[in-house]
Amino acid sequence: MAAWQTRVHALAAARNAVILAHNYQAPIIQDVAHHVGDSLALSRIAATSDAETIVFAGVHFMAETAKLLSPAKRVLIPDQAAGCSLADTINADQLRAWKAEHPGAVVVSYVNTTAEVKAETDVCCTSSNAVDVVRSIPEDREILFLPDQFLGAHVRRATGRTNIHVWLGECHVHADISPSDLVESVRANPAADLYVHPECGCTTSALWLAESGELPAARTHVLSTGGMLDHARRETSRQVLVATEIGMLHQLRKANPTTDFQPVNPKAACPFMKMTTPEKLEACLGDPSLTRGYEVDVPADVAARARQAVERMVAIGN
Ligand code: 13P
Ligand code: SF4
Repeated sequence: MAAWQTRVHALAAARNAVILAHNYQAPIIQDVAHHVGDSLALSRIAATSDAETIVFAGVHFMAETAKLLSPAKRVLIPDQAAGCSLADTINADQLRAWKAEHPGAVVVSYVNTTAEVKAETDVCCTSSNAVDVVRSIPEDREILFLPDQFLGAHVRRATGRTNIHVWLGECHVHADISPSDLVESVRANPAADLYVHPECGCTTSALWLAESGELPAARTHVLSTGGMLDHARRETSRQVLVATEIGMLHQLRKANPTTDFQPVNPKAACPFMKMTTPEKLEACLGDPSLTRGYEVDVPADVAARARQAVERMVAIGN
């Protein structure tokens, strides 16, 4: 183990801290973390861990969600500026105005939102449970789905519901994994299977390729990051094309070293996720009296309402 890793683990032990890293973090950060996973799985680990301090190597909304589910714990993030272009596409004022245009509609927000937006939400979802969350809402209720338009389109398609209004937000990283990137990769590797994250701009094209028979539906999988890992563990295909942020490849390759996982767009790196560096992670674990600048908190009134939306999602299941 590198000297840096040993130092980080010693600091974590001295502070009774657990280090959580999202699947999109740089490999060096994933490898030092106690747990690596998707945003929801990590928040659940945060809530059940005995550690007093949670260090969330991820982006700000993820650390906030961990704080909502574990209010008594101290939650730290190595860089407070690690935001999310998707979460930034809607704020609480915009959501209140949208709700006023659709009185009585049920608000379903992806977890990639700020705590203020979650506080205006009826139920949260992740990419792995969005379809189940929407199916749990009575057919005759209108739904406001936010903020991701591509995930929203996927949910509309999968549920066949026409009364879902979708906010036109997008993640700039996944929107840039374009239909032409996908078609080119599939044509260049005709024997490969395909994993697509539903935030991708190319999700519809993947399904179109499947419908046209160019890439059989049985080899096309629309999956969350956690779903990709589960699938990878039982993958029998020799090659898989992966349409999501490239940090994901590290865990996929570890989970199944005999399959060749290749990115559909090798430039799809999230700049916010890559703001966690070894230096910042170590500094954040330093002397608690000097590390207040790393702490993530949510005002109590916002937290109480936002927590309800997250807990309703957790009650519906994965
Ligand atoms: P997960 O919910 O799969 O962790 O993904 C979060 C994210 O930021 C996707 O871009
Ligand atoms: Fe946000 Fe996109 Fe980065 Fe995920 S990959 S954290 S959605 S900017």
